[in-house]
Amino acid sequence: MKNFFFIVAIVLGLNACSKSEKHYDGEALLKNRCATCHNLDMPPKTYEDEKAPPMMAVAFHVKDFMKVENPGDKRPKFIAFFQDYVLHPSAEKSFCDKESLESYGVMPSQEGKVTEAEVGAIAGYVYDFYDQEKFMRQMQQKAAFEALPPGEQLAIKNGCLTCHGKTKAKAAPSFREIAQKSVAEISETIKNGSRGRWKGFERMTMPAYTRRLKEKEIQSLTQWIKSL
Ligand code: HEC
Ligand code: HEC
Repeated sequence: MKNFFFIVAIVLGLNACSKSEKHYDGEALLKNRCATCHNLDMPPKTYEDEKAPPMMAVAFHVKDFMKVENPGDKRPKFIAFFQDYVLHPSAEKSFCDKESLESYGVMPSQEGKVTEAEVGAIAGYVYDFYDQEKFMRQMQQKAAFEALPPGEQLAIKNGCLTCHGKTKAKAAPSFREIAQKSVAEISETIKNGSRGRWKGFERMTMPAYTRRLKEKEIQSLTQWIKSL
Protein backbone atom coordinates (compact mmCIF):
# COMPACT_ATOMS: atom_id res chain seq x y z
CA MET A 1 0.00 0.00 0.00
CA LYS A 2 2.83 2.40 0.93
CA ASN A 3 4.47 1.72 -2.43
CA PHE A 4 1.26 2.41 -4.24
CA PHE A 5 1.00 5.93 -2.81
CA PHE A 6 4.63 6.50 -3.53
CA ILE A 7 4.16 5.63 -7.19
CA VAL A 8 1.00 7.77 -7.44
CA ALA A 9 2.94 10.71 -5.99
CA ILE A 10 5.70 10.31 -8.54
CA VAL A 11 3.29 10.10 -11.44
CA LEU A 12 1.37 13.15 -10.26
CA GLY A 13 4.62 14.99 -9.68
CA LEU A 14 5.92 14.26 -13.15
CA ASN A 15 2.61 15.26 -14.61
CA ALA A 16 2.65 18.59 -12.83
CA CYS A 17 6.14 19.23 -14.13
CA SER A 18 5.46 18.47 -17.75
CA LYS A 19 2.25 20.49 -17.76
CA SER A 20 3.53 23.67 -16.17
CA GLU A 21 6.06 25.84 -17.96
CA LYS A 22 9.64 25.80 -16.82
CA HIS A 23 10.03 28.17 -13.93
CA TYR A 24 12.38 31.08 -14.45
CA ASP A 25 13.89 33.32 -11.80
CA GLY A 26 13.20 36.80 -13.20
CA GLU A 27 15.40 38.57 -10.66
CA ALA A 28 18.46 36.39 -11.36
CA LEU A 29 17.95 36.66 -15.12
CA LEU A 30 17.63 40.44 -14.92
CA LYS A 31 20.94 40.64 -13.06
CA ASN A 32 22.63 38.25 -15.48
CA ARG A 33 21.37 39.50 -18.80
CA CYS A 34 20.52 43.17 -18.42
CA ALA A 35 22.77 44.67 -15.73
CA THR A 36 25.76 45.16 -18.04
CA CYS A 37 23.87 48.09 -19.58
CA HIS A 38 20.98 48.96 -17.24
CA ASN A 39 21.64 50.01 -13.62
CA LEU A 40 19.25 48.02 -11.44
CA ASP A 41 19.22 50.03 -8.19
CA MET A 42 16.17 51.77 -6.81
CA PRO A 43 16.78 54.68 -6.56
CA PRO A 44 19.15 54.25 -9.49
CA LYS A 45 22.79 55.19 -9.73
CA THR A 46 23.51 57.23 -12.83
CA TYR A 47 26.85 57.59 -14.56
CA GLU A 48 28.35 60.05 -17.05
CA ASP A 49 28.95 57.37 -19.66
CA GLU A 50 26.10 55.00 -18.90
CA LYS A 51 25.16 52.66 -21.71
CA ALA A 52 21.42 52.64 -21.09
CA PRO A 53 18.76 54.24 -18.91
CA PRO A 54 18.49 52.69 -15.43
CA MET A 55 15.91 49.89 -15.22
CA MET A 56 13.79 51.90 -12.79
CA ALA A 57 13.50 54.67 -15.38
CA VAL A 58 12.61 52.13 -18.08
CA ALA A 59 9.95 50.53 -15.87
CA PHE A 60 8.32 53.80 -14.75
CA HIS A 61 8.45 55.17 -18.26
CA VAL A 62 6.88 52.18 -19.94
CA LYS A 63 4.20 51.98 -17.22
CA ASP A 64 3.38 55.68 -17.64
CA PHE A 65 3.15 55.64 -21.42
CA MET A 66 1.37 52.32 -21.77
CA LYS A 67 -2.31 52.90 -22.49
CA VAL A 68 -4.81 50.30 -21.27
CA GLU A 69 -8.59 50.35 -20.95
CA ASN A 70 -8.61 48.00 -18.00
CA PRO A 71 -5.99 48.32 -15.19
CA GLY A 72 -5.78 44.51 -15.08
CA ASP A 73 -4.35 44.53 -18.61
CA LYS A 74 -1.35 46.63 -17.64
CA ARG A 75 0.97 43.90 -16.35
CA PRO A 76 0.43 41.48 -19.27
CA LYS A 77 0.79 44.34 -21.77
CA PHE A 78 3.99 45.48 -20.06
CA ILE A 79 5.40 41.95 -20.28
CA ALA A 80 4.43 41.66 -23.95
CA PHE A 81 6.11 44.99 -24.72
CA PHE A 82 9.34 43.82 -23.06
CA GLN A 83 9.26 40.48 -24.87
CA ASP A 84 8.88 42.24 -28.20
CA TYR A 85 11.29 45.12 -27.50
CA VAL A 86 14.18 43.15 -26.09
CA LEU A 87 14.24 40.81 -29.10
CA HIS A 88 13.15 43.30 -31.78
CA PRO A 89 14.01 46.83 -30.62
CA SER A 90 13.54 49.87 -32.84
CA ALA A 91 13.45 53.65 -32.51
CA GLU A 92 9.74 53.65 -33.45
CA LYS A 93 8.76 51.23 -30.71
CA SER A 94 10.85 52.83 -27.96
CA PHE A 95 9.08 54.94 -25.35
CA CYS A 96 12.38 56.77 -24.82
CA ASP A 97 12.33 60.46 -25.72
CA LYS A 98 14.18 61.42 -28.91
CA GLU A 99 17.09 63.05 -27.12
CA SER A 100 17.82 60.02 -24.92
CA LEU A 101 17.46 57.69 -27.89
CA GLU A 102 20.06 59.73 -29.75
CA SER A 103 22.49 59.77 -26.85
CA TYR A 104 22.14 56.06 -25.97
CA GLY A 105 21.42 54.71 -29.42
CA VAL A 106 18.72 52.07 -29.91
CA MET A 107 19.20 49.02 -27.70
CA PRO A 108 20.91 46.17 -29.59
CA SER A 109 18.61 43.16 -30.00
CA GLN A 110 19.23 40.57 -27.31
CA GLU A 111 18.14 37.73 -29.59
CA GLY A 112 20.26 34.67 -28.92
CA LYS A 113 21.24 35.94 -25.47
CA VAL A 114 17.85 35.62 -23.86
CA THR A 115 14.66 33.77 -24.85
CA GLU A 116 11.16 35.19 -25.05
CA ALA A 117 10.09 33.12 -22.03
CA GLU A 118 13.07 34.41 -20.05
CA VAL A 119 12.24 38.02 -20.95
CA GLY A 120 8.69 37.29 -19.77
CA ALA A 121 10.00 36.31 -16.35
CA ILE A 122 12.32 39.32 -16.26
CA ALA A 123 9.51 41.71 -17.21
CA GLY A 124 7.16 40.28 -14.56
CA TYR A 125 9.81 40.81 -11.92
CA VAL A 126 10.61 44.34 -13.21
CA TYR A 127 6.91 45.27 -13.19
CA ASP A 128 6.47 44.21 -9.56
CA PHE A 129 9.81 45.39 -8.18
CA TYR A 130 9.94 48.89 -9.69
CA ASP A 131 6.72 50.04 -8.12
CA GLN A 132 6.10 53.80 -8.08
CA GLU A 133 4.28 53.79 -4.74
CA LYS A 134 6.97 51.68 -3.09
CA PHE A 135 9.56 54.10 -4.45
CA MET A 136 7.65 57.13 -3.12
CA ARG A 137 7.41 55.53 0.32
CA GLN A 138 11.16 54.83 0.29
CA MET A 139 11.92 58.42 -0.67
CA GLN A 140 9.60 59.76 2.02
CA GLN A 141 11.27 57.54 4.61
CA LYS A 142 14.65 58.75 3.44
CA ALA A 143 13.54 62.39 3.61
CA ALA A 144 12.06 61.83 7.09
CA PHE A 145 15.31 60.24 8.26
CA GLU A 146 17.39 63.08 6.85
CA ALA A 147 15.17 65.62 8.62
CA LEU A 148 16.02 64.12 12.04
CA PRO A 149 18.69 65.77 14.23
CA PRO A 150 22.16 64.38 13.37
CA GLY A 151 22.45 62.77 16.83
CA GLU A 152 19.20 60.87 16.36
CA GLN A 153 20.34 59.67 12.93
CA LEU A 154 23.51 58.33 14.58
CA ALA A 155 21.48 56.64 17.32
CA ILE A 156 19.39 54.86 14.67
CA LYS A 157 22.39 53.93 12.50
CA ASN A 158 24.37 52.57 15.45
CA GLY A 159 21.56 50.54 16.95
CA CYS A 160 21.35 52.54 20.20
CA LEU A 161 17.57 52.47 19.92
CA THR A 162 17.44 48.70 20.01
CA CYS A 163 18.28 48.90 23.73
CA HIS A 164 17.25 52.48 24.62
CA GLY A 165 13.86 53.99 23.88
CA LYS A 166 13.75 57.70 23.20
CA THR A 167 11.23 58.27 25.98
CA LYS A 168 10.52 54.75 27.26
CA ALA A 169 12.92 52.29 28.86
CA LYS A 170 13.57 49.08 26.93
CA ALA A 171 16.46 46.78 27.88
CA ALA A 172 18.23 50.00 28.90
CA PRO A 173 17.03 53.25 30.49
CA SER A 174 15.32 55.76 28.18
CA PHE A 175 17.40 58.57 26.72
CA ARG A 176 15.00 61.07 28.28
CA GLU A 177 15.92 59.75 31.73
CA ILE A 178 19.60 59.65 30.84
CA ALA A 179 19.36 63.31 29.76
CA GLN A 180 19.45 64.29 33.43
CA LYS A 181 23.10 63.23 33.59
CA SER A 182 25.87 65.67 32.74
CA VAL A 183 27.39 66.02 29.28
CA ALA A 184 30.68 64.64 30.64
CA GLU A 185 29.02 61.55 32.14
CA ILE A 186 27.01 60.83 29.02
CA SER A 187 29.92 61.08 26.60
CA GLU A 188 32.17 59.13 28.95
CA THR A 189 29.69 56.23 29.02
CA ILE A 190 29.28 56.23 25.26
CA LYS A 191 33.04 55.95 24.93
CA ASN A 192 33.76 53.39 27.63
CA GLY A 193 30.48 51.60 28.26
CA SER A 194 29.07 50.81 31.67
CA ARG A 195 27.22 48.29 33.76
CA GLY A 196 25.42 48.28 37.09
CA ARG A 197 24.93 52.03 37.45
CA TRP A 198 21.25 51.99 36.65
CA LYS A 199 18.91 50.06 38.95
CA GLY A 200 16.91 47.42 37.16
CA PHE A 201 19.25 47.21 34.15
CA GLU A 202 22.10 45.33 35.82
CA ARG A 203 21.80 42.33 33.56
CA MET A 204 22.66 44.26 30.41
CA THR A 205 25.99 45.87 29.54
CA MET A 206 26.26 49.19 27.78
CA PRO A 207 28.92 48.49 25.11
CA ALA A 208 31.91 50.83 24.64
CA TYR A 209 31.88 52.81 21.41
CA THR A 210 35.35 54.46 21.38
CA ARG A 211 36.50 52.36 18.47
CA ARG A 212 33.27 52.54 16.52
CA LEU A 213 32.48 56.26 16.79
CA LYS A 214 34.45 59.41 16.07
CA GLU A 215 34.77 62.08 18.77
CA LYS A 216 32.46 64.32 16.75
CA GLU A 217 29.80 61.62 16.54
CA ILE A 218 29.95 61.06 20.30
CA GLN A 219 29.46 64.80 20.82
CA SER A 220 26.54 64.82 18.44
CA LEU A 221 24.90 61.84 20.21
CA THR A 222 25.47 63.48 23.60
CA GLN A 223 23.93 66.72 22.41
CA TRP A 224 20.87 64.94 21.12
CA ILE A 225 20.41 62.94 24.35
CA LYS A 226 20.71 66.15 26.41
CA SER A 227 18.05 67.79 24.22
CA LEU A 228 15.47 65.21 25.27
C1 HEC B 1 24.08 46.29 -24.69
C2 HEC B 1 23.35 47.09 -23.75
C3 HEC B 1 21.97 46.66 -23.34
C4 HEC B 1 21.60 45.44 -22.80
C5 HEC B 1 22.46 44.21 -22.52
C6 HEC B 1 20.20 45.55 -22.49
N1 HEC B 1 19.73 46.79 -22.86
FE1 HEC B 1 17.81 47.46 -22.71
N2 HEC B 1 18.33 49.23 -23.54
C7 HEC B 1 19.59 49.60 -23.92
C8 HEC B 1 19.56 50.96 -24.40
C9 HEC B 1 20.75 51.71 -24.94
C10 HEC B 1 18.23 51.41 -24.29
C11 HEC B 1 17.68 52.83 -24.61
C12 HEC B 1 17.36 53.00 -26.04
C13 HEC B 1 16.14 52.25 -26.43
O1 HEC B 1 15.05 52.52 -25.90
O2 HEC B 1 16.26 51.39 -27.31
C14 HEC B 1 17.47 50.28 -23.79
C15 HEC B 1 16.11 50.29 -23.62
C16 HEC B 1 15.36 49.24 -23.13
C17 HEC B 1 13.92 49.19 -23.09
C18 HEC B 1 12.97 50.20 -23.70
C19 HEC B 1 12.74 51.44 -22.87
C20 HEC B 1 11.76 52.41 -23.47
O3 HEC B 1 11.63 53.47 -22.87
O4 HEC B 1 11.12 52.14 -24.49
C21 HEC B 1 13.58 48.01 -22.50
C22 HEC B 1 12.18 47.50 -22.22
C23 HEC B 1 14.80 47.32 -22.18
N3 HEC B 1 15.87 48.08 -22.58
C24 HEC B 1 14.87 46.11 -21.53
C25 HEC B 1 16.04 45.37 -21.41
C26 HEC B 1 16.09 44.06 -20.77
C27 HEC B 1 14.91 43.35 -20.14
C28 HEC B 1 17.38 43.62 -20.89
C29 HEC B 1 17.94 42.27 -20.45
C30 HEC B 1 17.35 41.12 -21.05
C31 HEC B 1 18.13 44.65 -21.56
N4 HEC B 1 17.29 45.70 -21.84
C32 HEC B 1 19.47 44.53 -21.91
C33 HEC B 1 20.72 48.80 -23.84
C34 HEC B 1 20.78 47.50 -23.37
C1 HEC C 1 23.12 46.25 24.08
C2 HEC C 1 22.29 47.29 24.62
C3 HEC C 1 22.77 48.73 24.50
C4 HEC C 1 23.12 49.41 23.36
C5 HEC C 1 23.17 48.88 21.93
C6 HEC C 1 23.43 50.75 23.78
N1 HEC C 1 23.27 50.88 25.12
FE1 HEC C 1 23.55 52.58 26.22
N2 HEC C 1 23.14 51.54 27.92
C7 HEC C 1 22.80 50.21 27.98
C8 HEC C 1 22.62 49.85 29.36
C9 HEC C 1 22.21 48.48 29.88
C10 HEC C 1 22.87 50.98 30.13
C11 HEC C 1 22.87 51.11 31.65
C12 HEC C 1 24.26 50.86 32.11
C13 HEC C 1 24.44 50.90 33.59
O1 HEC C 1 23.49 50.65 34.31
O2 HEC C 1 25.58 51.18 34.01
C14 HEC C 1 23.19 52.03 29.18
C15 HEC C 1 23.50 53.32 29.56
C16 HEC C 1 23.75 54.36 28.66
C17 HEC C 1 24.01 55.71 29.06
C18 HEC C 1 23.99 56.19 30.50
C19 HEC C 1 25.20 56.90 30.94
C20 HEC C 1 25.34 57.05 32.41
O3 HEC C 1 26.37 57.62 32.75
O4 HEC C 1 24.49 56.64 33.18
C21 HEC C 1 24.20 56.42 27.92
C22 HEC C 1 24.52 57.90 27.75
C23 HEC C 1 24.05 55.50 26.79
N3 HEC C 1 23.80 54.26 27.30
C24 HEC C 1 24.15 55.85 25.45
C25 HEC C 1 24.11 54.95 24.43
C26 HEC C 1 24.34 55.29 23.03
C27 HEC C 1 24.58 56.69 22.52
C28 HEC C 1 24.27 54.13 22.32
C29 HEC C 1 24.53 53.93 20.84
C30 HEC C 1 25.76 54.50 20.32
C31 HEC C 1 23.97 53.07 23.26
N4 HEC C 1 23.88 53.60 24.51
C32 HEC C 1 23.80 51.75 22.90
C33 HEC C 1 22.62 49.36 26.91
C34 HEC C 1 22.88 49.66 25.59
